[in-house]
Amino acid sequence: IIKACIFDLDGVIVDTAKYHYLAWNRLANELGFEFSIEHNERLKGVSRMTSLDILLEVGGLTYSNAEKVVMAARKNEWYLEYIYKMTPDEILPGVISFLTMLREKGIKISLGSASKNAMLILERVQLQSFFDAVIDGNKALKAKPDPQVFLLAAQELNENPTNCVVFEDAAAGIEAALAAGMKCIGIGSPEILGRADKVVPGFENANIELIKF
Ligand code: G6P
Ligand code: MG
Repeated sequence: IIKACIFDLDGVIVDTAKYHYLAWNRLANELGFEFSIEHNERLKGVSRMTSLDILLEVGGLTYSNAEKVVMAARKNEWYLEYIYKMTPDEILPGVISFLTMLREKGIKISLGSASKNAMLILERVQLQSFFDAVIDGNKALKAKPDPQVFLLAAQELNENPTNCVVFEDAAAGIEAALAAGMKCIGIGSPEILGRADKVVPGFENANIELIKF
């Protein structure tokens, strides 16, 4: 029986993938290439530094660690320009009513995100009050598909992983949830998220039946 829900942030609660893409492509352009949108799927759910490695691989470029740290920081500054402008209007359809329903049913709620900007984004869209726990990229140091982020969420909620369900839009996140021994629901397309226990396009019309297995 499900007692806790753990939500990925980017692509599940808000669509920040478009902002990540714009900022990464700006970096790529500065380095002299175009990071086409088709490659963007590979950046979903993976850490900032791994994203940079993927970007540089696409561009066929190699840099030292020190240079990469500077590049990642610049990308994040550009990304934050978009994040500071976010408003609650950007919460994906159906999310607020789904979270409200979970609260009413006494189901615990955590965030489980690789992003170091997760807290800021939750504040911008005014969703912090829904979360009993927030595990972000500052707390979880091992990147998805490692299960650490979700296991820490379960620990903070004081729940057994088998009683938790994870909501994820990225293949790496689905693998992380499975490795944590949790149920998992893919948000997006079955072609990419086929390993999830269920896949739905989003939270519109979602009700308690969604978390019954
Ligand atoms: C999420 C996104 C990734 C992003 C990662 C780190 O998992 O899906 O695309 O790279 O967070 O985000 P950050 O905000 O710390 O750069
Ligand atoms: Mg995501």
